[in-house]
Amino acid sequence: MPVSSQKTYYITTPIYYVNGLPHVGSALSTLSCDVLARYHRLKGEQTYFLTGTDENATKVTQAAEKAGVPAMDFVDGLANAFKECWADLHIANNDFIRTTEPRHAHAVQEFFTRLLNKGYVYLDTYEGWYSVSDETFFRDSEVKDGIAIESGKPVTLVKEENYFFKLSAFTEPLLAHIEANPDWLLPEFRKNEVVAFLKDGLRDMCITRVNKGWGITVPGDDSKVIYVWFDAVINYLAATGWPQDPNWENLWPADVHLVGKEIFVRFHATLWPAMLMALDLPLPKQVYAHGWWTVGGQKGGKSGASLPHPTRLAQFIAERSGAEPDLAVDALRYLLCREMNFGPDTEFSVENCLRRFNNDLANDLGNLLNRTINMMNKYYDGTVPEVDEPDAEIVALAESVCADYEKALSVFRLNDVLEVTWRLVGRMNKYIDEKAPWGLAKAANNGDAESAKALARTLTACLEVTRIVALLVSPFMPSASTAIYQQIGIAEPIEAATWSDTAWGGLKAGGKVTAPKPLFPRIAELTVEDSILYALGSANPPKSETEETSKPVSETNTPPATEAEAAVPNYISIDDFLKVELKVGEILAAEPVPNTTKLLRLTVQSDEDETRTILSGIAEYYTPEELVGRQIVLIANLQPRKMRGIESQGMLLAADINGRAVLLQPDNLVPVGSKVR
Ligand code: MSP
Repeated sequence: MPVSSQKTYYITTPIYYVNGLPHVGSALSTLSCDVLARYHRLKGEQTYFLTGTDENATKVTQAAEKAGVPAMDFVDGLANAFKECWADLHIANNDFIRTTEPRHAHAVQEFFTRLLNKGYVYLDTYEGWYSVSDETFFRDSEVKDGIAIESGKPVTLVKEENYFFKLSAFTEPLLAHIEANPDWLLPEFRKNEVVAFLKDGLRDMCITRVNKGWGITVPGDDSKVIYVWFDAVINYLAATGWPQDPNWENLWPADVHLVGKEIFVRFHATLWPAMLMALDLPLPKQVYAHGWWTVGGQKGGKSGASLPHPTRLAQFIAERSGAEPDLAVDALRYLLCREMNFGPDTEFSVENCLRRFNNDLANDLGNLLNRTINMMNKYYDGTVPEVDEPDAEIVALAESVCADYEKALSVFRLNDVLEVTWRLVGRMNKYIDEKAPWGLAKAANNGDAESAKALARTLTACLEVTRIVALLVSPFMPSASTAIYQQIGIAEPIEAATWSDTAWGGLKAGGKVTAPKPLFPRIAELTVEDSILYALGSANPPKSETEETSKPVSETNTPPATEAEAAVPNYISIDDFLKVELKVGEILAAEPVPNTTKLLRLTVQSDEDETRTILSGIAEYYTPEELVGRQIVLIANLQPRKMRGIESQGMLLAADINGRAVLLQPDNLVPVGSKVR
């Protein structure tokens, strides 16, 4: 936690259940917060961005049991998977809290004790419905035929002596707070759902469960653990160092909790603020709820409505477009924020993302950057010219775009923030067509002084806008904005810039642009086959299980990353295994496949008198020279498949070390064609 006398801008994501791998749904909450945090840093505000994992839930232990792994090992593994995924997505969080950490347990127990001492927690018998999947208690009226109406999940009847929180005491205070603070809960239409829920009247909430060996115990009563939601929301306060760290108020209250809509009404707009009110602690300044990525109308991320794993999707974008890996990650960040309708739900589609990649990044932004730099090089030898006065229309447009950008951002509509920014990008591409600098250059060459001035004014306007756009997109695409800065010849690192640099006039005459290099090369093939969606974690297995041959097994045949299934062992019989023909082969030749960054074309001797061509996605990890002469293990009876016009006749086996392929080979040299079993 930062130590300073100044209140820090403090932003939080929900903490993620560690019963499955991250997907683009979980990435949405994290990415939105990252963008907001980066924007506030750009504004020069001290900013603290917290994310983390929710590890004390019953469903987590159930998933660990199914996987046959001790619960702590299980949660360690998945918490690391989240950390790695966020790092891969360039998420710059300041802290990552795990609810199995002592700092969290300590804050939760202290919170509980203080509520008990103030009379807001009491012991009683709970008899009613509980859904393990939702980790929520439901009223009779909220259950039909053993199913929670809201979530469609099964409930069981439980009867236990438990502690209760006097939530009912806070109906009126919460309604009054909403009334007095119209921007506290956003968006407006979701606030109305909260008001309706409150007007129905709050009931006291059962906040403990029988201790089955997992969770935070009730202080002084080891037979019970604290209800996971009651425990989870306290993470936001625990991370500030409350109660023992004297600086906790540097962070608290949080400026915004950003959450998904399903955890807004009951938990973030009702339970958590009521808990804080009970201890006379300040409430978070704002709570914002985004909608879901849906697949076929259902919430994505669940079995049957799978969403891609973010890192795999970014790798796929890099492969399809040929963009540098860091820029492909930035592209994904842009696409997720631009495609999501920050209001209602949005249907997720990989193909829509690719289409938008081409339109917005390869075309609009790419064209502006490339055309501007090319013309600077052509007409001014790359040196930024002096201008008499800037083009007033463009200056005014840039100013209004910056203002609208901030307005949209203040209500968390990140899609609108980008839409507004692209108004400027789009205008400049048209502006170039209208001004026709090539004509001005010709006239200037023929001695027309006005044309010479107009040429300088036009091209510096384009370059200045490109500079401003680099700053505006920097919260969304940090690597791309750095690359743009470099290409337009700004020596200072973009991290040193602040929001005030979005004002017109930052460009200095005499600066030198570099050679243009496309950041987001156009994607030629927009169709995404089912087998690829499956490999991304975004679909159910395709009909033909043997289709994918382009990459090592470890990269392509990973099942979709859906919630609990990710951890469940999936046994096959020995007969199934024997259907796979594994052999030792030897690589006779290796060469890169043109226009791809990952694929190598290998000529493999797979039997005494048999050679075959295999395309393998290992170009990032092995040079062709390293491979020639090496023995490998291959799947020999995989259905051949054409990629990039080349038929691949098999697949190599490789270990997956955090996404890096490490080829398997026999311990000693063995005859080529030897069977592997
Ligand atoms: N552990 C609780 C949150 C406790 S916060 C004190 C939880 N975890 S979760 O892993 O199920 O969800 C975390 C976040 O991911 C939520 O904001 C949720 O809305 C978001 N998403 C999960 N799937 C999503 C989509 N398909 N689309 C968009 N966001 C979704 O709830």
